[in-house]
Amino acid sequence: MSQPMYELAQVQKVYDGRTVLNLDQLSIYSGEILALVGPSGAGKSTLLRLLNFLEPASRGSIRFDGQPASPELDLAQRRRVTTVFQRPLLLQRSVRANLRYGPGLRGQPLPEAVEAQWLERLGLTALAGQAAPKLSAGEAQRVALVRALVTQPDVLLLDEPTANLDPANVSIIEAIIQAENQRSGMTVVLVTHNIFQARRIAQRTALLWAGKLIEVAETEQFFNAPGREETAAFVRGDTVY
Ligand SMILES: Nc1ncnc2c1ncn2[C@@H]1O[C@H](COP(=O)(O)OP(=O)(O)OP(=O)(O)O)[C@@H](O)[C@H]1O
Ligand SMILES: [Mg+2]
Repeated sequence: MSQPMYELAQVQKVYDGRTVLNLDQLSIYSGEILALVGPSGAGKSTLLRLLNFLEPASRGSIRFDGQPASPELDLAQRRRVTTVFQRPLLLQRSVRANLRYGPGLRGQPLPEAVEAQWLERLGLTALAGQAAPKLSAGEAQRVALVRALVTQPDVLLLDEPTANLDPANVSIIEAIIQAENQRSGMTVVLVTHNIFQARRIAQRTALLWAGKLIEVAETEQFFNAPGREETAAFVRGDTVY
């Protein structure tokens, strides 16, 4: 395994007196694709909000590339991490304006040829001029993914990136995530309800349950020889959501 990008120790997140996340230890390695699975309400999106510095942990320590991670971390460091949220919020402007926004903010305007390539890869060329609010859910999800990728993040956090997509588009997105991971060594944390997706593209898979990390293992082992009965039950589909 390579260097840890994130190291979490004794991390808790408490909302209104309720502990929704309680992780003893978790390392996320530079360059890996880690899938996070678990029932609804397990704390997956909450964990992503800590990893992208949107919220501080209530207790414990999160280190990002060796530095304490918190909303106060300096902007250049925070910008190394990009998130595609479960319900992506796009600018109420054209698809093209959405793609140009992130690189523009960073003072590195997106070259037109690169923009065209991305639009093509995600099947969005014909929609480049369309206003984002008029996109279908699946189109909006694809725009949110390209918008994240064009900033060339060191870490990409994905919350259910293919929930609204048809099988053909799911394949396209999975292929792009894998290709970008291999090309640039970008670290990917993928929250998914689709265990087949975890199996297809993640090197390691972690099960979160009621805020706790039940098991994290090589994907092959997670699915074929899980160490915990809860993981076996989850993989069999015995879990009640
Ligand atoms: N801002 C908040 N204030 C209070 N409670 C919250 C807040 N955000 C999340 N929670 C609670 O924390 C728990 C974990 O929520 P989270 O969104 O992380 O779950 P999840 O695993 O992403 O679920 P899903 O698969 O349904 O998206 C839930 O019980 C939720 O109601
Ligand atoms: Mg969620």
